[in-house]
Amino acid sequence: MISKSIAVNNDGHLTIGGADCVDLAERYGTPLYVFDENLIRSTIAEFRESIKKHYGGNGRVLYASKAFSCKEMYRICRSEGIGADVVSAGEIYTAVSAGFDPSLLVFHGNNKAYDELLYAVKVGVGRIVVDNFSELKNLESIAESLGKEVNIILRIKPGIDVHTHDYIKTGQIDCKFGFALENGEAMNAALECLEHKGVNLKGFHCHIGSQIFTTEPFCDAAKIMIQFAADFRDKSGVTVTEIDLGGGFGVKYVESDDQQPFDSFMATAADALKAECDRLHFPISFVYIEPGRSIVGPAGITLYKVGAIKHIENVRTFVSVDGGMSDNPRYALYNAEYTIEIANKATEPKSFVATVAGKCCESGDLLQEHVKIQQPDVGDTLAVLTTGAYCYSMASNYNRIPRAAVVFVKDKESRVVINRETYEDIIKNDV
Ligand code: LLP
Repeated sequence: MISKSIAVNNDGHLTIGGADCVDLAERYGTPLYVFDENLIRSTIAEFRESIKKHYGGNGRVLYASKAFSCKEMYRICRSEGIGADVVSAGEIYTAVSAGFDPSLLVFHGNNKAYDELLYAVKVGVGRIVVDNFSELKNLESIAESLGKEVNIILRIKPGIDVHTHDYIKTGQIDCKFGFALENGEAMNAALECLEHKGVNLKGFHCHIGSQIFTTEPFCDAAKIMIQFAADFRDKSGVTVTEIDLGGGFGVKYVESDDQQPFDSFMATAADALKAECDRLHFPISFVYIEPGRSIVGPAGITLYKVGAIKHIENVRTFVSVDGGMSDNPRYALYNAEYTIEIANKATEPKSFVATVAGKCCESGDLLQEHVKIQQPDVGDTLAVLTTGAYCYSMASNYNRIPRAAVVFVKDKESRVVINRETYEDIIKNDV
């Protein structure tokens, strides 16, 4: 199976973390997001141990919580001893409400509002990743008004163009995030950080993109970041102590995806980073990594009920389910590929070619086209695999469809971690 969490039981039903998907759909209703908590925890542990192996105590895993954010997820991160990357005051608020230590939060974003920055500094967020000049000015004024020092990291675009979908590339100059190296903007920004009172420049950050399968771009990024830090030292006399290499480690959505062991990314990047530090006589820094998709993606699935089946002779068969782009916009946005199973027929051959459609009033509301599944019937439980990342977090109320519930399975036992929205929730802000 495509993920360690997924198997088939003696009834021929798909299971996740040992729990029967047909039973889960029956018990909690559909659409339903289900996560295998043990896989989330073991993947976090894999990253944590890998960082320890390569950097000793000088490293930290930050879970990129944009991939899937809720109070229970921050509790898991806390209990696994890692930090988190947050990208809005809403994510900070969720983390803090769950008792997460704010000093282990790193706050990203290309257009953080003044109020968001103020809130972040007030609650004691550990690092603010500065993305533009106006943010620097805002942080100086916030530091002064609160009488606090603000620890910042500067976001750099290392000029690396990775092989992934255009919308999730972030390392090249033509990108809204961070400061470019090629045109000197990054160096000017770094030097300018030193001019702002109450703002401490701790280091540099880069994130080259998401769903990347090869290790080379991470190795290139690590080298470029150290070279930049050394150039900055030579120009300013200041030696920064932190390098944040971002996330982006690719996961398996379909058989052809060549998922690499996550440690191989860490190993190549660490070797490159250490060699560059040696070459430039630069002290080995404290290193952060920010995996998001890789921590939650393969641990999650979405369950639906099959409704209408519409066969159009010589065209295609639409198999419609009771969710769609409202709980998973990724096919509509990125043509993202998925593996799909009919959970109550998991041992049957996948001989049927379907276009799995959602229920939204939108022709583009598809979950997958021309995908092989088992022979579908109305009332079947359909499972889309590897939906743990960027599905719940990108869900919407389009067509006033309530957001689906999220259930975690641990040692075969299930529990709700996010309730299904009600129609009352849908109108609660209407006046
Ligand atoms: N760090 C930063 C600064 C990021 O911008 C991101 C993702 C990550 C870490 C985590 O990257 P990951 O390990 O998850 O690849 N919605 C898109 C993905 C957008 C990624 C945004 N930034 C999708 O559904 O594919």
